[in-house]
Amino acid sequence: MSADPTALYSRKNPFPAKLGTNRKLTGPGSAKDTRHFEVDISGSGLAYEVGDSLGVFPTNNPILVAELLAVLGLTGEEPVVDTNGQPVTLREALSRFYVITEMDKKLLSAIAEKDPSASKFIAMVTPEGKADLDAYFYGREVIDALLEFPAAKFTAEEFVKVLRKLQPRLYSIASSPKAHPSSVHLTVAAVRYESTGRKREGVCSTFLSDRADTAPVPVFVHSAKHFRVPEDLSTPVIMVGPGTGIAPFRAFLQERKAAGSSGKNWLFFGDQKAETDFLYREELEAYQAEGVLHELSVAFSRDQAEKIYVQHRMLERAADLYAWLESGAYFYICGDASRMAKDVDTALHKVVETAGGKSPEEAAAYVEELKKSKRYRKDVY
Ligand SMILES: Cc1cc2nc3c(=O)[nH]c(=O)nc-3n(C[C@H](O)[C@H](O)[C@H](O)COP(=O)(O)OP(=O)(O)OC[C@H]3O[C@@H](n4cnc5c(N)ncnc54)[C@H](O)[C@@H]3O)c2cc1C
Ligand SMILES: NC(=O)c1ccc[n+]([C@@H]2O[C@H](COP(=O)([O-])OP(=O)(O)OC[C@H]3O[C@@H](n4cnc5c(N)ncnc54)[C@H](OP(=O)(O)O)[C@@H]3O)[C@@H](O)[C@H]2O)c1
Repeated sequence: MSADPTALYSRKNPFPAKLGTNRKLTGPGSAKDTRHFEVDISGSGLAYEVGDSLGVFPTNNPILVAELLAVLGLTGEEPVVDTNGQPVTLREALSRFYVITEMDKKLLSAIAEKDPSASKFIAMVTPEGKADLDAYFYGREVIDALLEFPAAKFTAEEFVKVLRKLQPRLYSIASSPKAHPSSVHLTVAAVRYESTGRKREGVCSTFLSDRADTAPVPVFVHSAKHFRVPEDLSTPVIMVGPGTGIAPFRAFLQERKAAGSSGKNWLFFGDQKAETDFLYREELEAYQAEGVLHELSVAFSRDQAEKIYVQHRMLERAADLYAWLESGAYFYICGDASRMAKDVDTALHKVVETAGGKSPEEAAAYVEELKKSKRYRKDVY
């Protein structure tokens, strides 16, 4: 019996994929750097479904690794063990296996042990010191504590023992296997910011943007059974995906087109400025022209003095939105979990109240029923 090739690659054994395409979606003058990636998975046996995410194991920025080694006074050639207990050089360990862009309590305790002038960390790592610890952690990386207390000297072995394991990041898949069986498309916002006077980068988003064109990209498929398109091809879908939240809905549209779905599609998309941040504009307009995308409601938050968000567009179209829900539409949200998803949920309740003529309690029961019947689905982060 031949082995199942899909069983070969997994989170434990990621596939070393090639990055085929790395294209900027945001235009010149945008405050953001959001990109379209195509990851080549041909020959991997990896299978994915619309709604799934791709797990990516990043590598730290070699410039940051070199800076860290210089501060530690180590060469990088010192032998250490990686997070699997395998022998590697310190440089390799700091590049691929350990977190160097976030602080950890263990590191602070070790610094305090080595340098009495770092005694503030002793109180910070107690339960009572949590607020101070969080404030210290915010916007700081491993190198900051070492720069602050240069008298704390570590051997290579001691140092890796106080670091955490570097974890993979998930990205919503932006393609359908029906349209792209051997590649996985992603929509990724590069995380770049400045704090305490240093330029900082998100590990994985900048690994993909800046460092993965020549290096292999270790990937695995993370299944999301809760976020599939409706099985019944005639079911309408409403998709709310501002910013990178659009990713799975691009996949949904490809899938629904390829499957010949008769159900209508309505997309709510929002970002900062129409001129520079209308992600996949041409594709979406082509889907509209072809009759695949029946409604496209856009909200550009920074094109006018007041903020206009996707939920404002939902409220403007409350009657139609409610009519779609009444006709059996599924309702999907993807993107920011901290504020957007909550505000969109509140707007959904308001839509049901105003267009459905319901009390707040009745609207809450209606939305609860949508959830129970799995017609209200979220993939937020
Ligand atoms: C199911 C799922 C799907 C996802 N899909 C997508 C997707 O399609 N596209 C996408 O772009 N992302 C997506 N994400 C998010 C993605 O997984 C990563 O979290 C994101 O790319 C950031 O990772 P990073 O390694 O680049 O940044 P990290 O190295 O993890 O750094 C991010 C951290 O930096 C800190 N930080 C950021 N900005 C600032 C600031 N201004 N000041 C101080 N600190 C700051 C915060 O602590 C933040 O948590 C998804 C997440 C999940 C769970
Ligand atoms: N967990 C992580 O590590 C991580 C990493 C990267 C991204 N993310 C999340 O992923 C999200 C997507 O990032 P992105 O840069 O593509 O887009 P985004 O920051 O979500 O912005 C997209 C649009 O949504 C608007 N918006 C802001 N607050 C909103 C709200 N409460 N309700 C509705 N819309 C709102 C933004 O407007 P304004 O900006 O003009 O207010 C912008 O027009 C981010 O918001 C972020 O929270 C998380």
